[in-house]
Amino acid sequence: MSKGAKKPGLSVDRRQLLSMGAAVGAAGLAASKGISQSAAQTSGFPTVQVAQLSDLAVGAEIEFDYPDADSPAVLLRLDGPVEGGIGPDQTIVAYSRLCTHKGCPVNYNAAHRMLICPCHWSSFDPAKKGRMIIGQASQGLPQITLRLTNGAVEAVGVEGLIYGRQQNIL
Ligand code: FES
Repeated sequence: MSKGAKKPGLSVDRRQLLSMGAAVGAAGLAASKGISQSAAQTSGFPTVQVAQLSDLAVGAEIEFDYPDADSPAVLLRLDGPVEGGIGPDQTIVAYSRLCTHKGCPVNYNAAHRMLICPCHWSSFDPAKKGRMIIGQASQGLPQITLRLTNGAVEAVGVEGLIYGRQQNIL
């Protein structure tokens, strides 16, 4: 076989190799995107028991850490249903306390029914999925995904990215 006959054969092999590499790369990218999207919800998150439903009167406020000790959160039982809320009337919700502006821990102000940041006074509405109402922040508070299991309120995930993190699970 002459040199001229070998070159086309090698050329096809290289194209096939490059094509396979591109396909593998695309599959890897899609897989990694799928993993990061599900991680933003409940995949990979710990299950943490926060309270007993029977102990949560309307107006209850419980501070806890989730998904780890460096991430303060707050659970509230409001007097009306909330999107993503759980319990008999969907009134139990929880949010990250780390302000989305610069990370100061927000506090619940029952009189104003707002989660308010003491640093620059951004206010977030817990009855509207933690939406920012006024202030310096650019987005709402991440909502902690809750689940009711045999009367226990459990934290099982986070919707939204916790301030200062590139991923919620470190
Ligand atoms: S850190 Fe909360 S408003 Fe600035």
